[in-house]
Amino acid sequence: MALFLGIDSGTQSVKAVVYDTDTQRVMATGQASHRMIEHLPAGHMEQDPASWTTAMDAAILQALDHVDRSAIRGIGVSGQQHGFVPLDDRGAVIRPAKLWCDTSTVEECRLISEALGGDAAVIDTIGNRILPGYTAPKILWLKRHEPDHFARLRHVLLPHDFLNFYLTGEYFMEFGDASGSAMMDVRSRTWSTRVLDAIDPLVAGYLPAISESDKICGTLRPPIARRYGLSERVIVSAGGGDNMMGAIGTGNVTSGVATASFGTSGTIYAFNDVPVIDPQAEIAAFCDSTNGYLPLMCTMNVTAVSEPFRHLFSKDHDALNAAIETAPRGAGGLVLLPYFDGERTPSIPMGSGVLMGLNANNMNPDYMIRAAIEGITMGMNFGLRRLNELGVTTREIRLTGGGARSPAWRRIIADVFGVPVVCMVEDEGAALGAALQAAWCWQRQSDAGLTIDAIVQGATALDESTRLEPDPASTARYNEIQSFHTSLSKVMEPVFEAHSRAFR
Ligand code: XUL
Repeated sequence: MALFLGIDSGTQSVKAVVYDTDTQRVMATGQASHRMIEHLPAGHMEQDPASWTTAMDAAILQALDHVDRSAIRGIGVSGQQHGFVPLDDRGAVIRPAKLWCDTSTVEECRLISEALGGDAAVIDTIGNRILPGYTAPKILWLKRHEPDHFARLRHVLLPHDFLNFYLTGEYFMEFGDASGSAMMDVRSRTWSTRVLDAIDPLVAGYLPAISESDKICGTLRPPIARRYGLSERVIVSAGGGDNMMGAIGTGNVTSGVATASFGTSGTIYAFNDVPVIDPQAEIAAFCDSTNGYLPLMCTMNVTAVSEPFRHLFSKDHDALNAAIETAPRGAGGLVLLPYFDGERTPSIPMGSGVLMGLNANNMNPDYMIRAAIEGITMGMNFGLRRLNELGVTTREIRLTGGGARSPAWRRIIADVFGVPVVCMVEDEGAALGAALQAAWCWQRQSDAGLTIDAIVQGATALDESTRLEPDPASTARYNEIQSFHTSLSKVMEPVFEAHSRAFR
């Protein structure tokens, strides 16, 4: 028997799964929460990396309680993308990590982009724009705002790389997560000296070389092996960003498959053999973590919006589902722009939430909840349309993440997207993907030709009972509402700026 641990360190918690390659099933799971640092200025989203390792230890120990530890062969780690973990010369964390949802670096994005000659030149150089979510501007922010911390900086890691470092002691980065740093040219898969120099020429010396994603990062450090009760020979695979691992965990490792993840963020992505570069950079030109590519659209506001609405009206998940079903399609004219944390797609970092169309008939909890869910889904559909314009086909979309568990929300997803949708048997896509990548890396030591496709076959079954076809009449109506949603968003752009100045 060979078992593999898959870890997913997200924005809210760490999840662990133990996957058995013989039965191709998840045998045990564990979960532990971690928290945002509170009371920071608006737009600043930070976490203490020590809270990730504490939660990871707890989640792993929970999962291992239920299995034969001597059968564990490897660990794979998935992590929230783009976060900046600054380490000193001894590998100690200098300050909390700024996260993917931090929008405090608008000025740093402008400075780096200008140094490279503007957005078009940046896209030419790295395939992506410099956006506040990405890592590059966070490093310049440290240099400009906390020069003493910058002076101590010696190593730059992304969140999953930091967990790999904790497990193995190795400074290691792989294509998938590195491609979200906005420091890597995704075409050549090398660090971009021009971007690094625009931040500071010293940064080049703080980054590990970028490795292929089928490589092993290292083996467990002895104290970690003892803590988990595992062998020091257990390998830790390259790992990757949560979307890259979600792709593996939903079987999205060959062309023609697409996944939508409804987590704290909303993402839609599809494996590709070659880079997909958007001249407008609304779609991110990421690499995946199997040595392919992963064009991806990301909105920052999914459960980060649905959960506050659920809490506001004191609903549990069943009651939320019932509320969505009670209110009519279009929520009686209520439209939500869900930009609670600013937004990446469309790029409106200064954005905030807008509820438009209130009247005496629709001002009730059910209608407001339906408007929220429709608004979140249309926000994602904006990016889906752009993916399709770039030639990425989505004949069917596999769903993962908490949001997709509500049948009423799934109905809205199918109708708004106008595409059949289906959930997975194993719901924890990113954690499962991490375990599968670890199994792949481990087995390739003795079978160099083994493909990731062979590994995911059977492990990533679809739950056919959840499949929904779009209803053509609903899709037609949602197309009209979508046009209004997109125009409202455009019209509001200068208003968001004025609003954030007025209430700074
Ligand atoms: C994708 C993105 C988010 C985070 C969430 O580019 O920023 O999906 O990875 O953890």
